[in-house]
Amino acid sequence: MDIIINKCTPEQLKEKPKDMHHLPFGRFFTDHMFLMKYQDGEWGQPQIIPYQPFTLDPACAVFHYGQEIFEGMKAFYSQNGSINLFRPYENAKRFNRSAERMCMPTVDEELFVKAIKELIILDKEWVPKEKGTSLYIRPTMIATEPAIGLHSSAEFYFYIILSPVGPYFKAGFNPTKIYVASQHIRAAPGGTGEAKTGGNYAGTLSETEIAKKQGYSQVLWLDSIERKYVEEVGTNNIAFVVNEEILTPELDGTILHGITRKSVIQLAKDLGYKIKETKIELRKLLEQIENGECTEAFGMGTAASISPVGELFYKGKTYQINNFEIGKITQHLYDELIGIQTGEKPDKYGWIEKII
Ligand code: COI
Repeated sequence: MDIIINKCTPEQLKEKPKDMHHLPFGRFFTDHMFLMKYQDGEWGQPQIIPYQPFTLDPACAVFHYGQEIFEGMKAFYSQNGSINLFRPYENAKRFNRSAERMCMPTVDEELFVKAIKELIILDKEWVPKEKGTSLYIRPTMIATEPAIGLHSSAEFYFYIILSPVGPYFKAGFNPTKIYVASQHIRAAPGGTGEAKTGGNYAGTLSETEIAKKQGYSQVLWLDSIERKYVEEVGTNNIAFVVNEEILTPELDGTILHGITRKSVIQLAKDLGYKIKETKIELRKLLEQIENGECTEAFGMGTAASISPVGELFYKGKTYQINNFEIGKITQHLYDELIGIQTGEKPDKYGWIEKII
């Protein structure tokens, strides 16, 4: 189905951020958004409209039972002037897997990608060109049926908004400090940990606030049964370099299937590194940090990209990794990934989808 485009009037156009070199994460939004509504068992007319607030009934299911899903993606301005998406069909597929888990209607993958492309073409002036910046894309689906009884909503909005962004962490591409959760868990087997749904994130906020007060920007979550194995950070997946081998927690149903994670696994193998998806026992890992066997740690996510980790904090004790410096493998993988995303390095994988 064709997407109807209803452009902003000149008065509706917004002022762009003045300092594109120091963009905050997710504070500015572009002129237009995509919107498609679901009612009576089918999706209605897809449309691009001026960016605007929704007027929603306070009884909508999303406000009460959190029936919602989202994706995180990025478009990059490349050296040759083109604008590229990174593996957008992977996001479309994951969005639909989340939809199925959360009892929501799926979206045609071609339309998902086409909507993003058309929206970006219209708002192309918002794609930042500065090093370390990108256009963050947030496809979202919310349950909009106004009914308070607990049941799956019969009405939904699927919408996409765009935000020019700088690095997710204030530190930029510099080591961050991570607080290992000691009170709460993020996800349990059979739960929704694998789905990209708001509740997974809301549940992490209280311990994250505790961590922040102690100077830690993120929380590393442990498994919910034994509180023994490392899972993920919530904003991103995690990897450790131990005895020259990259280890990342295996996907066991509670961890998000990160697209950056998947790409890093492929890149690492092709660059000649040993990489293993496995169970990582926290106690053993902390010993390996202390005795120098664990030499690097890094996060992997769309917003976070590849982000070096310089310190873990667990139950009152700090564990510094690689003297709080960026490790060689982390730097190598970052350069390769960013190189492909920004068109500075050849994309032998076909991961780049050129928009214009
Ligand atoms: C992303 O990396 O795109 C995410 O959705 C994580 C979010 C906490 C910013």
